[in-house]
Amino acid sequence: MLRRERRSVVATEAIGPYTLLRVERGTVDPGRPGQFFMLEAPGRLLPRPMSLALAPPGELAFLIDPIGPGTRALCCLDPGDRVGVLGPLGNGFDLEVERPLLVGGGIGVAPLPYLSEQLGGPPAVLGFRTSWHAEAAELVPNAEVVLEPTYVTEAMNSGHDVLACGPEPMLEAVRRLTPHAQLAWEAPMACGFGACYGCVVEIDGELKRLCVEGPVLAAA
Ligand SMILES: Cc1cc2nc3c(=O)[nH]c(=O)nc-3n(C[C@H](O)[C@H](O)[C@H](O)COP(=O)(O)OP(=O)(O)OC[C@H]3O[C@@H](n4cnc5c(N)ncnc54)[C@H](O)[C@@H]3O)c2cc1C
Ligand code: FES
Repeated sequence: MLRRERRSVVATEAIGPYTLLRVERGTVDPGRPGQFFMLEAPGRLLPRPMSLALAPPGELAFLIDPIGPGTRALCCLDPGDRVGVLGPLGNGFDLEVERPLLVGGGIGVAPLPYLSEQLGGPPAVLGFRTSWHAEAAELVPNAEVVLEPTYVTEAMNSGHDVLACGPEPMLEAVRRLTPHAQLAWEAPMACGFGACYGCVVEIDGELKRLCVEGPVLAAA
């Protein structure tokens, strides 16, 4: 069930260049892996979409790449600070798969720890720019890690139900290899629940709001 709440920060942890932001869960439903939350740091005008990375008892945890002012504000929070939390939002991954293979690139690994937990720890292939970025792989059990210039698509075995999240070129490459993959896409989002049309993308020749139709879409 969708809830908008102000919740206290429990802790922040550095994982390579990323920050794991742990927030008190309260009565907020963690939702399905691949769904996202709009997180609003104190004093920031607009919230930012973040996938749920982990749902330990009593907490919601988000893995954040500090690439701009909104994400940096979230990474700089201290324990006890209050953060606005709206979610769970959008459509997550379909968990009814027989032979799951998780595929992630860079900060696209963010939803995979929770997804892995819900699927019982299936194999994963994760790609990163550097070994520093690859420290995030510690959150995903059974993961094979590749570093550039090797790409995740070179390490993917066939015959799996692929569930992937990562940068657009990676998702396009995964889509070409596995037309039945489930792919978690990104677009800039202002509201997260269908009101602003800021996240409109073309899907099958039609303009659709990614926050409502996605972010997880079937590759085909
Ligand atoms: C459904 C969803 C889930 C996400 N989950 C995570 C997550 O778990 N962890 C995480 O670190 N990030 C995640 N993101 C991306 C994150 O929301 C953006 O990086 C963030 O909003 C950037 O805000 P900013 O103010 O820090 O930087 P901005 O100043 O807003 O942006 C910095 C740069 O990134 C570009 N940019 C911003 N947002 C996006 C976007 N969504 N897609 C493509 N380019 C963008 C901008 O054009 C600009 O060049 C997710 C995005 C979506 C849509
Ligand atoms: S983010 Fe507002 S409609 Fe999708």
